[in-house]
Formats: sequence, C-alpha cells, structure tokens
Amino acid sequence: MKGMSNSHFILFIHINFLCIAVSSTAKPPFACDLSNPSTNSYAFCNTSLPISQRVENLISRLTLDEKISQLVNTAPAIPRLGIPSYQWWSESLHGVSSSGRGIKFNGETISSATSFPQVILTTSSFDTHLWYRIGQAIGIEARAVYNAGQASGMTFWAPNINIFRDPRWGRGQETPGEDPMVTSKYSVSYVRGIQGDSFEGGKLRGGHLQASACCKHFTAYDLDNWNGTNRSVFNAQVSKSFVYLADTYQPPFKSCIEEGKASGIMCAYNRVNGIPSCADFDLLSKTARGAWGFNGYFTSDCDAVSIIYDDQGYAKTPEDAVRDVLKSGMDVNCGSYLQKHTKSAVQQKIRGEGDIDRALSNLFTTRMRLGLFNGDPIQQPYGDISPKQVCSPDHQGLALEAARNGIVLLKNSAKRLPLSRATTMTLAVIGPNANTTKTLLGNYFGPPCKSITPLEAFKSYVREISYTPGCDSVACSSSVSFEEAVKLATLVDTVILIMGLDQTQERESHDRVDLVLPGKQQNLITIVAKAAKKPVILVILSGGPVDIYFAKHDGNIGSIIWAGYPGEAGGITLAEIMFGVTQGGDYPWLGIHKISSKFP
Ligand SMILES: *[C@@H]1O[C@H](CO)[C@@H](O)[C@H](O)[C@H]1NC(C)=O
Ligand SMILES: *[C@@H]1O[C@H](CO)[C@@H](O)[C@H](O)[C@H]1NC(C)=O
Ligand SMILES: *[C@@H]1O[C@H](CO)[C@@H](O)[C@H](O)[C@H]1NC(C)=O
Ligand SMILES: *[C@@H]1O[C@H](CO)[C@@H](O)[C@H](O)[C@H]1NC(C)=O
Repeated sequence: MKGMSNSHFILFIHINFLCIAVSSTAKPPFACDLSNPSTNSYAFCNTSLPISQRVENLISRLTLDEKISQLVNTAPAIPRLGIPSYQWWSESLHGVSSSGRGIKFNGETISSATSFPQVILTTSSFDTHLWYRIGQAIGIEARAVYNAGQASGMTFWAPNINIFRDPRWGRGQETPGEDPMVTSKYSVSYVRGIQGDSFEGGKLRGGHLQASACCKHFTAYDLDNWNGTNRSVFNAQVSKSFVYLADTYQPPFKSCIEEGKASGIMCAYNRVNGIPSCADFDLLSKTARGAWGFNGYFTSDCDAVSIIYDDQGYAKTPEDAVRDVLKSGMDVNCGSYLQKHTKSAVQQKIRGEGDIDRALSNLFTTRMRLGLFNGDPIQQPYGDISPKQVCSPDHQGLALEAARNGIVLLKNSAKRLPLSRATTMTLAVIGPNANTTKTLLGNYFGPPCKSITPLEAFKSYVREISYTPGCDSVACSSSVSFEEAVKLATLVDTVILIMGLDQTQERESHDRVDLVLPGKQQNLITIVAKAAKKPVILVILSGGPVDIYFAKHDGNIGSIIWAGYPGEAGGITLAEIMFGVTQGGDYPWLGIHKISSKFP
C-alpha cells in the first residue's frame, strides 16, 4: 500500500464471447509431425533452415483458396500439408483468459489460471519489474495450457496500451492510465515477460516466442459508446502535431515495438482523422513497420474490417474494404470478412496475390517463431512447461503482491488505519461490493485459481462480523435498505464500506456519462458515516476515476482506499491492508507458506 498519493482514480471493459464448451481429451494435431512420412520431408518443416525460407516454401505450396482461408482469426487446417487449424484470437490482459477463442479451461488438466489485478491497479505500483514478472507468469501459464493440449493458438491480444484520455471510457480499467511514459514502460515490461525475453530485453531463446503479445489498439482509441456515438463510427480527430499524436497516443506503441519487440499489433475500430485505422498505410506500414521496425503480424480488431464498408462508408464496396486493409499492411482479420470477400477482390483485380502473400508470410512467420512447425510441442524450447506451473504458489503469491502494491491509501486523517486486531471487536462490512469475487476480476478474465470475497477475508481478523449490502446493486437505485445499514453502523465499533463501480457501470461498449458514484451510493455512505460510532473506512473498487470529493471533506469518513479491481487475491489483500499486514504471510488455503519471489 502506498502513502497518500495523488493518484487519480480510474477504470474500463469489453465484450466476452462465449466459448462453446467442447470436451476433448485428445491432444490436438500439430504440424511437421516427424512420425508422419508424408509431411516431414517438406522444407518448411526443416528447422535447420531459416524461418524466412521455410515460410516461403510453405506459401509456394498453397492454392489461392487455401491462402484466402488463412486470412481470418479462425484459420482452418490444410490437411494435405499436415497443417492444423489455428486460432489467432486469445486474450491475456491480466492472466490467461477465456475471453478469446483459443483457450479452453474445460480440459481435464487445467481448469483455471492466475488472475492478476486489473491493469489500472497493477500499474499503480509504478514497478516495472513487477509488471515484467506478471507478464512472465502469464506467458508460462499460457505455454502450459498449450502444452496440455488446451490451446488452439498462442497469440494473445494484450497489452491494451491506449492512452486513457477520456476518464469516462468503459475500457480505461484495462490500460495503464493516462500517462504516455508509464504506459510505454508497462508495455515493454509486459511484452518482454510474456514473450519469454529477459527484463532488459534481447534474450529471446533462439528468437523463439514463449507466447506472442499484441500491442493494441492502434491508435487513439478511448471511446466505446457514448451519447449515440460508438467505436465503429468514432472518428478521433487528433492533431499530428507534437502534442497529440506523436507525444500522447503513439509513444506506448513505439516502445512496445522498438523495445518490447512485440510480435503483434491490433489496429483499432475507430478512424483517426477520417481514415480507418486498419486501412491506414501511413500508420501500419510506414510508421510501425517502417520507422519502428515491426516484424510481427497485424490483426484487425474483431469485425473492424466489415465496418469500413458497413458503418463508416469509407469503402464503396466490400471488395474495396478488402483492398484498403491489405494494401495498408493488415495481415489477419478477426471476423470472416476477408474469407468472404477476398476472392471477389482478386477476381476484380483490385488486389493481387502479392499483398496476400505478404500477409501470409507475416502470419506463418509468427506461428513458426512460436515453435508450432517444429513437430511435437513437448519437444519445443518451451515444451517442458507443465500444468503444475499454472496457479503455482509463486504465481498466486505474485497476484497478492501485485494487489498489495497497487492499492492506494487516499485519506487516513483520523488515523483509523491500520486497524488493530486486539481492539477491533465488532466489525460491520457494508456495501454492494463487499460480498463478490467477480467484481474483483474486472474484465477479460479467466477462471481464477482461488478467490474469496472481501467479506470472507475479514472473517480471519475479527471475531464478530456483520454484513449488509446497503444497496440493491452497485447501481444503488433504491434506498430501501439504508435503514438497516444505518442501524448496523450504530451497533459496532468499526465500519468498512465497500463501494464503487463494477462492470454494469463501466465496460466494453459502455462508457460512463459522469464521474460520480452510481445512484444513491453517496447518500448511503454519508448517512452510515454519520451514524457510526467512529469515523468509517471507505473502500472504492473502480477502474475509471470516481469523484469522491464529498468524502475527502467529510470528517465522519476517516480513511479512503482505492483498490481498483484487485484480482483473485483482492479480498485477502484488502483485509491484510486494513489490519496492517504488509509483508504477506502464510496462506495455507492457497498452498502458500511464505511469499517468495523466485523470478529473476
Ligand atoms: C534441412 O536443411 C539442411 C540445410 O539446408 C540440409 O542440410 C538438410 O539436409 C535438410 N534436411 C532434410 C531432412 O531435408
Ligand atoms: C449528445 O448528443 C446530442 C444529440 O446528438 C447533442 O445534442 C448533445 O449536445 C450531445 N451531448 C454532449 C454532452 O455532447
Ligand atoms: C454503431 O453505430 C452505428 C451508427 O449509429 C450503427 O449502425 C452500428 O450498428 C453501431 N454499432 C454497434 C456495435 O453498436
Ligand atoms: C454472499 O453472497 C453469496 C452468494 O451470492 C450468498 O450465498 C451469501 O449468503 C452472501 N453472504 C452474506 C453474508 O450475505
């Protein structure tokens, strides 16, 4: 926990697509199976050759239809060449997630992954090495999931490094915040960690990627759905001058590529100065690939190609949209638009096979760098990473450490914190965010290893604990339960209010319209604080900033803590912080007996 920092309060979201549960225990097929004599003689399987030659050899064997089939996120198998299907879309914002299409947690081996705090909280530690270690843990867990046969891709669409310029943005929670310098440093640490590089960079084992990171969303994206404008039609008007594009929005992307050496970039839904991001040659080819030396693949955001024709009217026909994105340098389309319209674009001679071959070259290069054309996955450089490394005591301990170091103490005027275990006899926990584990995870999460609610966590510290939500939900539209909350507050010696936002208030496709607490939350806090015997402790869970000016000046509110969305260990961490446990301890129920930092 940091001291009384002037840290801003901030927050954000995205749409989770449900994965269809398909139970399978058989290991998925892999390319270049050395035991298969019909495919192992291909030059593209020969690991003694440079990847560029192998990729060229592979592309030379493909028909036009096969080539087109590979330009979308769900790339089908090419059985005659022994090439399995590939899923480009997986997510790992703050832990290996089930939000994409490539990761399945319903396999028999791995059913959860470490869920670190939401990024806006983790970055509040201002600790680049912590960010690196989290990236590293996510990369290890991702590779373990792949080795266990539960991943149909190893390309992860994180980090989200858009500058959180508009505090109402529903996805600000996913980002490191509004500062280009912090966001740049975060991007480099995270990318080096997940891809298997060293903290200082330049140490990828033989150029092999542990997992592929993707700097998103390129660029100037911080509006989802606000006052009738959504991200599909949003046109960010950004001066190319010193101050805006070059100095604010682009530095994180430049660092992510030049220093982090990320192997993916996602172009955004929105237009920038009239041009759809995915159709902007200057942005993709001249700037990222040319000036910054990007050598990975470009993906579109999901359905960001169709909107160029459908919503933006920038392209006159679907084929024009295909031409625009392939010409700009985009390689793979999340969605199915390129599968549907590329053939007719080629037939209309508005796009030659040259751009398609370039796209395929970037795509297969990435798959080869991931070691996916080297035969049996367990014989790869990362083939020894086992399921035991998922939710390991080290990783769960790191989730605790990240929450502890990110949470911010904003006010402690009445010196209420830390609470004493010896003298805190009766505790009331009040608020709609007290009895939840889901809210702790923010968005883009996977099933956490183990998570308990803040309410449950407090039970280890006080003999007598009582709870009432106070509001019907975080929206807090009714005051019918206020009386009960006020009554409870008068009966105990300590009151902790756990309030703030959740994904009903800020999320992907939903921006806020103001920065105050939802509904009647402020009324509840004020009357409970007034009724309590001693100044109360107020905890705000939120990703985006919340205006709590009223609480700063209310003498009945002794302490204020901002806890972001603190991840799977957030409940435990909050209780520890309240009771002054700052070094971590024994967590036998997590299999943790001492917090250790074994990471380099
Ligand atoms: C793989 O490539 C190397 C280098 O060109 C060559 O010496 C070797 O014979 C090739 N292996 C196979 C199985 O073709
Ligand atoms: C929201 O949109 C309406 C209708 O387009 C417009 O009149 C209004 O000024 C907008 N509100 C703000 C705060 O921009
Ligand atoms: C975004 O807004 C446009 C124009 O109002 C509309 O056609 C489109 O359906 C909207 N997209 C989404 C995803 O809501
Ligand atoms: C906390 O929430 C759970 C699940 O919604 C519920 O079963 C439980 O009764 C709640 N705890 C209290 C003390 O209200």
